[in-house]
Amino acid sequence: MAESDFDFSAVEKRLGVSRRTFLKFCSGVAASLGLPSGAAMAMAEAVADPKRRPPVIWLHGQECTGPSESLLRSEQPSLEHLILDLISLDYHQTLDTGAGHQVEDIKKQVMKENQGKYLLVVEGAIPMANDGIFCKIGGETMVEITHEAAEHAAAIVAFGSCASWGGVQSAAPNPTGAVGAPQLLEGKTVVTIPGCPPNPANFIGTVLYFVTYGKLPPIDEKGRPKWAYGRLIHENCYRRPHFDAGRFALEFGDEGHRKGYCLYKLGCKGPETYNNCPSLEFNNVGGGVWPVGVGHPCFGCSEGGVGFSKPLFSLADVKTHTPPNMFPSIDDREGNTPVSTSAAAIAGAAVGLAVGATAMASKKLDKKEPDGE
Ligand code: SF4
Ligand code: F3S
Repeated sequence: MAESDFDFSAVEKRLGVSRRTFLKFCSGVAASLGLPSGAAMAMAEAVADPKRRPPVIWLHGQECTGPSESLLRSEQPSLEHLILDLISLDYHQTLDTGAGHQVEDIKKQVMKENQGKYLLVVEGAIPMANDGIFCKIGGETMVEITHEAAEHAAAIVAFGSCASWGGVQSAAPNPTGAVGAPQLLEGKTVVTIPGCPPNPANFIGTVLYFVTYGKLPPIDEKGRPKWAYGRLIHENCYRRPHFDAGRFALEFGDEGHRKGYCLYKLGCKGPETYNNCPSLEFNNVGGGVWPVGVGHPCFGCSEGGVGFSKPLFSLADVKTHTPPNMFPSIDDREGNTPVSTSAAAIAGAAVGLAVGATAMASKKLDKKEPDGE
């Protein structure tokens, strides 16, 4: 359908967003997903049709409710409007106003009447130790609840790092035997949207794709949508030119830190973490609201085996040494000889890997160490 033929008034009224804002959002998601032109209109049509809203069963296990909180605080367009109108949120243990057996009965009824049609969202880890007694809701363990809800789901989404692989609950020694939904539901396809918290736009984009095309978007080997988790943070980070030039912060508050230098030597895990934080950021307020943007190293919250596993002070494995070509070539800001991008990349990587490995130890021995320039 051409944009001019589409009646946006119903969407504007139902979602409480302007036509422009709504189309901008759909176009942004379509572009991020790498979809051809026309996909934004297909998404707009899908959202405009109330009959295409999938029922959603939303479970909570071991977690802090960060993913739901992050979703509810998103704006532009009012994503809480979009999510509540894009889907039919029939069961959500945090947002439901009802409680107890009444709500549990509704959940079972929705699942029975919508077999093969509902979307299952799992938030939080699932404790497996001692027959799963560490998390029970309505008299059933999270293990039983998740198995039951997954059986007839049209699609399963694990939202947040806890649901994706166990998150902080699964950190050693993992006394409750916490795992993520993919580990519990072995053999079933589970799309994971990891992050602590995850970016709400990654969830919305994935659900929008599902509502539009009736299937989930392409995923990587860890179940993450490729459109959102296809690149390392290190590839898009705007401190990357400093990494390539060998300019590092060595202590919080030192000169390098104040100047916005690379945080690699403070333990940044951006070089081994896949996520789109540098491009999407958080809270829609602009101004670089994401961990590295506000001066804290990425701790790999969305990467199983890195976040909550590797100590913050340990150095990341650098998976790629080639600088992205979107950044300007690196010159010497102090007026010395310009440095070519490739030479600086090799130097930066070498500094990161060879010198950086000893930086923390030597810093302890000699506080007068130069700031890494
Ligand atoms: Fe950015 Fe971290 Fe990479 Fe440095 S190491 S460029 S701060 S992602
Ligand atoms: Fe998490 Fe690192 Fe992004 S800590 S929010 S993956 S910058």
